[in-house]
Amino acid sequence: MVKLDLSKLSGFLPEDYLTSRQERLAKAADMLASHTGPGGDFTGWVCLPRDYDKEEFARIQAAARKIQKQSQVLVVIGIGGSYLGARAVIELLLSNNYNLKKKDTPDIFFAGNGLSTDALLELIDLIGDRDFSVNVISKSGTTTEPAVSFRIFKELLEKKYGKEGAKERIYATTDKARGALKGLADTEGYEEFVVPDDVGGRFSVLTAVGLLPIAVSGIDIDALMAGARQAMEELGQGGLDNPAWQYAAARHGLYQKGKAIEVLAGYEPRFRFFAEWWKQLYGESEGKDGKGLFPASVEFTADLHSMGQYIQDGERVMFETVVSFAPAGEYKIPNDPANVDGLNFLSGQPLSFVAEQAMRGTILAHVDGGVPNVLLELPQISEKSVGYLIYFFEYVCGLSGHLLEVNPFNQPGVEAYKKNMFALLGKPGYEDLRAELLAKL
Ligand code: PA5
Repeated sequence: MVKLDLSKLSGFLPEDYLTSRQERLAKAADMLASHTGPGGDFTGWVCLPRDYDKEEFARIQAAARKIQKQSQVLVVIGIGGSYLGARAVIELLLSNNYNLKKKDTPDIFFAGNGLSTDALLELIDLIGDRDFSVNVISKSGTTTEPAVSFRIFKELLEKKYGKEGAKERIYATTDKARGALKGLADTEGYEEFVVPDDVGGRFSVLTAVGLLPIAVSGIDIDALMAGARQAMEELGQGGLDNPAWQYAAARHGLYQKGKAIEVLAGYEPRFRFFAEWWKQLYGESEGKDGKGLFPASVEFTADLHSMGQYIQDGERVMFETVVSFAPAGEYKIPNDPANVDGLNFLSGQPLSFVAEQAMRGTILAHVDGGVPNVLLELPQISEKSVGYLIYFFEYVCGLSGHLLEVNPFNQPGVEAYKKNMFALLGKPGYEDLRAELLAKL
């Protein structure tokens, strides 16, 4: 399903960049398959497309139908891995303008992924007097941003529908046994979905975390899982002709050659949030112990007129990974008898032809400018191709983390700001740190 073109790496990597890593790749693949190695407890995602909980999957589909009937708006509350995947898939498959489209599924808004008062007030205003439901998602059940947001939306729901009515509109996705959200959901009697113990937030899009909001949008989650399963079966084969092995080896080789930044480039505006998901996946998985590629993203051709300058001509510290989907629709460029703009050499050509040449020309220009390019070509955007791509990136991420010799499945760095925030907010138990921080401010 994924066609990987690594031809534009020649000259940037030694000829043996793949074979010299064969043994380490085989070991990495084995650690993923056997759930061993650093972070092995969090590799449940590896077999998820085959081994997912079928009973819960059916409940997700039923809950999605219920939400579609009961509400015109779904508010999805979560941060990081608890919202990026759902938003990425909904936007990529249905458009970044999903909420603006005429449709018979609810508008979907994402909340609790920041602490902006303006954003909260705007969202309350956008919901207006429409019927709404809430899917609150937090694996730990204790993350401040979604917890505060949920407290607010729970109150709004209870004011509008009463406690019993609100209960029918709240869906909690959290740990099966632990955390404040689990306790609250049990006490209040919300419908609950589980974030599996062995799947970390950024690898959770194919669990209830991503699947419930995705199903509410009308996307066929069976087909999404089928695409991921195809990837699992193909990429799990291993070997030097495996595109995941090739890409992981290339990324590692480029990193060791001083290319410290990987820029993910897409040509579809609806790909923008998928790139956000990808940045979290790689940033949190690789960026630790003083190591890791810095994941960045651009949207072409728009960003060729902004970041394009730096990529072409700035510090030579990056490589690009371009993701290209086959176009779905077609629009032909009209002829202008007066040819005032001098564009008649394009008359009758589909716009996708122009886009294709822009992409090819950009790749050649950037490679000439010293930026190695990887090209990932996929069929049209569909549930299957997106499911495949999700798994492809997850699997390469697992391999890459092991090549880098970090634990790809923890995120110790995320804790530092939380501790300081709690201390400054006066949370009980943080008194000493609070005094220390206040002295520094
Ligand atoms: O990938 C991760 O583990 C993180 O980004 C988490 O998803 C994020 O911090 C939210 O955590 P939680 O779901 O526990 O609220």
